[in-house]
Amino acid sequence: MFHVPALSADPVTFHAELRAQLDALLGDERDPIANLANAAALIWHTTPDLNWAGFYLRRSESELVLGPFQGKPACVRIAVGRGVCGAAVARDASVLVEDVHAFPGHIACDGASRSELVVPLRHNGRVLGVLDLDSPLLSRFTAADQEGFERLMTLIEQRTALDSVL
Ligand code: SME
Repeated sequence: MFHVPALSADPVTFHAELRAQLDALLGDERDPIANLANAAALIWHTTPDLNWAGFYLRRSESELVLGPFQGKPACVRIAVGRGVCGAAVARDASVLVEDVHAFPGHIACDGASRSELVVPLRHNGRVLGVLDLDSPLLSRFTAADQEGFERLMTLIEQRTALDSVL
């Protein structure tokens, strides 16, 4: 049985603890669906004030498709360049949105979402998916969260056979 501990409130400590938890959770497993599913579940159960946490995977050059997640059922397909997720792929960079209503083209899968953080997942330098985090709070995510989740994605990239997901 996996015990999900309460993590520290301090952002730097929180992200160091989250990385250590994910490191232990992944172990020697390299299966992409298993690792992304467990990462989504760990993030969901440890990160405060989320209403959605999960992955979209780049199934073709121009389109993302829903991957492992926690939260309400969500939009299945997002074109690269559309919404916050598609913007992160097109820019090859994280996108932190303090107020989703002020982001042109934001795709509202859950009307409760007020702020969002999207972080690319890469393999051999190419963006092959994104981590998408939604919160019902305005300005929920900080630069420390962006850096923390970027480092978490690096851990997943190093420990998962991501090439077999596409
Ligand atoms: N809001 C995202 C769509 C995905 S859902 O939030 C789960 C976007 O604008 O890309």
